[in-house]
Amino acid sequence: MVAPREIVWPLEPHTRAKHEILKRYLQAWTPILTQGGFPEIMYVDGFAGPGRYSEGEDGSPTIALRVALEQRAQIRATLRFVFVEKDGQRTRVLREIVDDLEAPDNFQIEVYGDETFETAFRRVLDSYHGQQLPPTFAFIDPFGWSGVPFSMIEEIMSYRSCEVLVNFMYEEINRFLQHPDQGPNFDTFFGTDEWREGLRLHDPRSRNRFLHDLYYRQLRGAAGAEYVRSFEMRNERDVVDYYLFHATNNISGLKKMKEAMWRVDQGGEFTFSDATDPNQAVLFGNEPRLDLLERQLLAHFGGREAPIEEIERFVVAETAFRETHYRRVLKSLELAEPPTIEVVDPPPRRRRGTYPDRAMRLRFR
Ligand SMILES: C[S@@+](CC[C@H](N)C(=O)[O-])C[C@H]1O[C@@H](n2cnc3c(N)ncnc32)[C@H](O)[C@@H]1O
Repeated sequence: MVAPREIVWPLEPHTRAKHEILKRYLQAWTPILTQGGFPEIMYVDGFAGPGRYSEGEDGSPTIALRVALEQRAQIRATLRFVFVEKDGQRTRVLREIVDDLEAPDNFQIEVYGDETFETAFRRVLDSYHGQQLPPTFAFIDPFGWSGVPFSMIEEIMSYRSCEVLVNFMYEEINRFLQHPDQGPNFDTFFGTDEWREGLRLHDPRSRNRFLHDLYYRQLRGAAGAEYVRSFEMRNERDVVDYYLFHATNNISGLKKMKEAMWRVDQGGEFTFSDATDPNQAVLFGNEPRLDLLERQLLAHFGGREAPIEEIERFVVAETAFRETHYRRVLKSLELAEPPTIEVVDPPPRRRRGTYPDRAMRLRFR
C-alpha cells in the first residue's frame, strides 16, 4: 500500500476488513473491562488518521468512539481516548468529527495533533508518573515502519491488562529492507538487528515468513506477551500487504480477537488468512478447515494422554482455531473406525462423542 497524499482517502476493502475486526473486538473489550470494575480504561489510536474516508465511511478513531457510545449505559469507568495524528490537516478533520459527537462526561477524548505517536504517547505515559497504566488497548496503524519503536510496544505490554494491535506493514517493509539508510530505523522497529538475516533470503515466501516470525517472536519474547496472533491481509493483487498482530496477556482478549477475525467476511476483493500457523488457511469457503485442526491436534497430542482443558488451552493459544471448533474434531476422531482417541475412565452414561467434563482425559493413539 502506498501512503496516500490526500487528507482523506478512499477506503480499500482490506481496510474495511481491518475496521470490522477492530469494531467487533472493541465491542467485546469494553464490556470485559467494565465488568472488571476498573476506574479508568484507555483506548489509544497512535496513527489515527482523519477519522473518516472519502465516501464518509468511519475511520478507526470514529469507530472506537461509536462503539463506546453504543455501550455508554454500561460504562461506568472513565474511558480515556488518546488519538494521535501527525498530519495537521488530517488532525483538523478528526477534531471536527470528535467535536460533533456528543460524548458523556466519563468519556475523556484527547486529540494530539501535529505530533508523532512517539512523543505524544510518551507524554501520556508520563502523565501516570511511573504508576500502573489503566487497562489499555493500543491500536498502532502506521503506513510504514517509522515512528513505531519496539521499545514503546515493550513498555505498553509491561503494564497489566494492556494490549496492542499493530499493523505490520509487510509489503512496505520488505520493499525498503535493503535500503542503505534504513538499517537503524529497522533496528528500532524490530527491537533487534536480527531482521538483517532476512536480507539473505531471496525467496519471497521465505523472507515473508522470516520477518513475520521475527516480529511474532519479539512480541512473545522481548515484549513478554503471553498470546500473540497475527492475521494476514492481502491486497487486490493477492500480495501480502500487511499483518495485524494482536498481543495480549488476557486469554479472554485472545478469544474475543479470534472471534472477531473469524467473523470477518471472507468473500469480496480481499483475501484474509491467519498466518500465525504455517497451515495458513483455516477457512475453506465459509467452513472451518477442521482437517487442519485435526492434524495439529494429532501432531501435538499423538501418543499421549491429555485432559480436555489442556486440549482447549492448546487450541485457543497455539492454533488459529477457536474453543468452539475442537469438540467436533474430537468426536470424529473418537467415532472413527478404528478410533484415534479414547476416553480414559469415561463417566457412567456418557454418550460417545460428547465431552461434558473438562477434567476428562483423552488418550491419543
Ligand atoms: C494508516 S493511516 C491511519 C488510518 C486509521 N488508523 C484508520 O484505520 O482509519 C496512518 C496515519 O498516521 C499518520 N502518521 C504518520 N506518521 C505518524 C506518526 N509518526 N505519528 C502519528 N501519526 C502518524 C498519517 O498521517 C496517517 O493519517
